[in-house]
Amino acid sequence: MENNKTFDIENINCDDYTQVDFLEYRGDDLFEGAELFDKFLQDAIARGYMLYGMPVCSSPGPEFQIYNPYEKKSFKFLNFCSYNYLGYSTNPVIKEAVKDAIDKYGTGAVSAPMLSGYYDVTSQLESSIAEFKGKTGAVVFPTGYGTNLGVISAMLKLGDVAVLDILSHASIYDGARLSGADIKVFSHNNAKHLDKVLSGLKDKRVLVCVEGVYSMDGDLANLPKIVEVCKKHNVKILLDEAHSTLIFGEKGRGVAEHFNVENDIDITIGTFSKAFGAIGGYAVGEQKLMTFIKMCARSYIFSCGMAPHTSAGILKVLECYQTDKTTRTKLFENSKYIKDRLLAAGLNIGETESHVVPVIVGDDIKLREISKKVFERGLYTGIVTFPAVSSKRTRLRLSISSEHTKEHLDRCVDILTEVINP
Ligand SMILES: Cc1ncc(COP(=O)(O)O)c(C=O)c1O
Repeated sequence: MENNKTFDIENINCDDYTQVDFLEYRGDDLFEGAELFDKFLQDAIARGYMLYGMPVCSSPGPEFQIYNPYEKKSFKFLNFCSYNYLGYSTNPVIKEAVKDAIDKYGTGAVSAPMLSGYYDVTSQLESSIAEFKGKTGAVVFPTGYGTNLGVISAMLKLGDVAVLDILSHASIYDGARLSGADIKVFSHNNAKHLDKVLSGLKDKRVLVCVEGVYSMDGDLANLPKIVEVCKKHNVKILLDEAHSTLIFGEKGRGVAEHFNVENDIDITIGTFSKAFGAIGGYAVGEQKLMTFIKMCARSYIFSCGMAPHTSAGILKVLECYQTDKTTRTKLFENSKYIKDRLLAAGLNIGETESHVVPVIVGDDIKLREISKKVFERGLYTGIVTFPAVSSKRTRLRLSISSEHTKEHLDRCVDILTEVINP
């Protein structure tokens, strides 16, 4: 990365610099960037702006305890940050299944999956997730990030092309980078632009990558049009349903089910860290392809397998979900309620069509002031800035849960309105 910012080493502060400036810093000494970043950090802490990565010291329910390391005390917050969309992370039936599995298997997989880190429950989970998604094969990875990294880099080689929606998640970009393939982007959700990009890639092997629900904006992939364009150019398509599995589609299989294009998707990726309330990721698709991925995905081969108790908890989620989707109905009601109220309060929630709700505020300085006030009022949200989103459209991101009551939703809107639109 190029360092295009002039650094006044004696006067580093959080007004003239942002965190990203330090990522790009190239001093003569390899560790100099860390020294300078610490100056920035101390200024940000002293002025109450450093709100990232505070330890949570309770379960991630609709209200939770956060330990403030600067005040050395824990405080209760309204939780609009966790991806506990359907409450499974805190569900007693799921917790019991996980506890039983810990008694049986211990606390971790303690080996790579090709050696002794692949357990019977993880094998069952692969069968169950493939069946749930209506595909013949699946691979379970220890994280969603590692899933995109492993699958995309296993599929593409030097000379191939990854064609990404410009707003794709970092794990998709990183998988494409690791593969050594060329990377082309198309404007967000713009099938016409995708068509133009693909027209310039005749005779290339191409993988188009899109997301079901976009993680920072909450809008849905324009799948019917994107699939049509991919078919026209005869290229493969990978769909990341991280935020949409268990939520969209009649059976909860995701946005591809919602748009009735499941048979047109070559590889589907998902995570267990969102609506499933756990951790891990999966790829589903045709059996032979999944077996091939198991043999070549470096993040699968060279990393410890999924912890067996995590697999057991996720299996229980799938079992419970198939007989009772009431929490999903509640999530839809909550999402509609809060979005209607935020719009009525004149707040900018972008193009969201889901339970992922951005409240767009503008540049970094504005975000920093707003975040501090929101935090002081006891509301914990995602604070999202560049490089996750454009530095002109920084935002607070609200993750809605079925566990929120009307009172939680109202309090959240009231705080945001008081701070952003008094
Ligand atoms: C679209 C998308 N894909 C992949 C991931 C990575 O998943 P995980 O956090 O489970 O590693 C995320 C995480 O937020 C995501 O939003």
